[in-house]
Amino acid sequence: MTNGRCFRHGLRLHSTAFETPTPVTSSSPSPSAPAAAPRNVVKRVLVLRYSQSGQLDEVAEQIVAPLRADPAIQVHEEVLRPLAPYPFPWPFLAFFDAFPESAHMKPQPLAPLSLTGEEDFDLVILPYQVWFLAPSQPVAAFLKHPVAARLLEGKPVVTVIACRNMWLLAHEKLKGMLADVGARLIDNVVLTDPGPTLATFFTTPAWLIWGRKRGFWGMPDAGLSTEQIRGTGRFGRALRDALGKNLERGTQPLLAGLGAVRADAKLLVSEKAGTRSFYLWGKLIMAAGGPGAWQRKPLLLLYVLFLIALIVTVVPVSLTLQAILRPLFRGWLTKMTAQFECPSGSATDRTPLYDD
Ligand SMILES: Cc1cc2nc3c(=O)[nH]c(=O)nc-3n(C[C@H](O)[C@H](O)[C@H](O)COP(=O)(O)O)c2cc1C
Repeated sequence: MTNGRCFRHGLRLHSTAFETPTPVTSSSPSPSAPAAAPRNVVKRVLVLRYSQSGQLDEVAEQIVAPLRADPAIQVHEEVLRPLAPYPFPWPFLAFFDAFPESAHMKPQPLAPLSLTGEEDFDLVILPYQVWFLAPSQPVAAFLKHPVAARLLEGKPVVTVIACRNMWLLAHEKLKGMLADVGARLIDNVVLTDPGPTLATFFTTPAWLIWGRKRGFWGMPDAGLSTEQIRGTGRFGRALRDALGKNLERGTQPLLAGLGAVRADAKLLVSEKAGTRSFYLWGKLIMAAGGPGAWQRKPLLLLYVLFLIALIVTVVPVSLTLQAILRPLFRGWLTKMTAQFECPSGSATDRTPLYDD
């Protein structure tokens, strides 16, 4: 567990991700903490929204509700609308057809935004889901939009991830995109499906492809639990208080001590292998045609067979090897876990202050 100790951040946090950590104690007041905001100054918060099943929307709603209820905070919600909406539940091949562009971060375009880029926000909340080990295409499309570059430059951003359980490398990619537009990542909240990894291999596709959210064969329901979603209200209450004290202008995380993120660095090896495979096969499939092209279908089918073969042969061998070798890599795993839990950390010392 990381105990609120993290790196001291410069403006571009992603470039510091693997440097030697300089411990800072998040719960102790910073000597350069900004003075409290006069109560007549209205803080402007931008919240980006995109969700297929409604899950990420529910999480965002829990976080935004305390901000919206505060008269000193003005919330603008921007719903991301892909020009050609993605289906939900997904037809089987359409689901896999989304992987080449997701993995290569060449997202399909969005319908025009309501924002022009001239607006000025004090804080940006960016909830996102993971698609094929990368930020979902609608979120990637927003971050690559020229309006995002104008809106986000120099702004503090809080990311909120809700996904099955593989988000480590997607977040590295997202940090790169934030750095490209000069945004400051000050917090990261992560919610992952509570079911056992093996069970979610079955329950997640059943939800996404066949629309079956309820568990089967003794396995739990797919997606986040109601308690997890409800619990995210604490982040909204902490953000409201932090805005009231101008803390978003500083460099310290606003959500430290609230159990914002628990990283499982053991998944890094699988994520790296998956990313490489998505990248190489994605390149081949994109060369055959654009999204939805019939020429991609035989290759997609071949890839699905390859994936199944990989899951039943290489994955068990790799997991067994990893389990045997784990004692040798304990130090590395601890270091990686701490790095992926930055900046908000997994400590929970402030949680009682913000639980409802
Ligand atoms: C096309 C697609 C690919 C996905 N790939 C991943 C993944 O690589 N890792 C992961 O943890 N979850 C993955 N998920 C699950 C999503 O991150 C998310 O939990 C789920 O789609 C619900 O999001 P929603 O709020 O948009 O409905 C994927 C979902 C979709 C639709």
